Amino acid sequence: MTIERTLSIIKPDAVAKNVVGDIISRFEKGGLNVVALKMAHLSKDQAGGFYEVHKERPFYNDLVEFMTSGPVVIQVLEGEGAIAKNRELMGATNPADAAAGTIRADFAKTVDENAVHGSDAPETAKAEIAFFFSDDEVCPRTR
Ligand code: CMP
Repeated sequence: MTIERTLSIIKPDAVAKNVVGDIISRFEKGGLNVVALKMAHLSKDQAGGFYEVHKERPFYNDLVEFMTSGPVVIQVLEGEGAIAKNRELMGATNPADAAAGTIRADFAKTVDENAVHGSDAPETAKAEIAFFFSDDEVCPRTR
């Protein structure tokens, strides 16, 4: 497996529940390194642009509304097979289908407010990281 980077967003529902630390701890315990991190309250343009791929889906407007309802914590995670590892730690998109012990099973109740986002493939990870972080905001580990 290769070292990858993936974009992770801790969504407004999880930030509001004060479980940011719990969620980041799961990434770290899962072998992923945080190499960039920021908190932001997204504008409608930012959230709409980030989820542009879902523009035609019936849930798009609600998704943008939700993602702008409060601050989010955005991070770049790095590690062996980081994209799949992050998705394994998050669990299924719909918390009702998420395996026990995953972030969504433990911290989310509905598909609309599902605690976390993670990139789904190398190309999307690259584009999503670039959407939120410039190259000099990503800090490769030196020790
Ligand atoms: P996320 O991984 O951030 O990608 C798109 C988001 O749309 C998804 O998580 C869900 O929170 C949200 N969403 C709402 N309804 C649906 C649905 N029916 N199918 C997929 N995603 C949905």
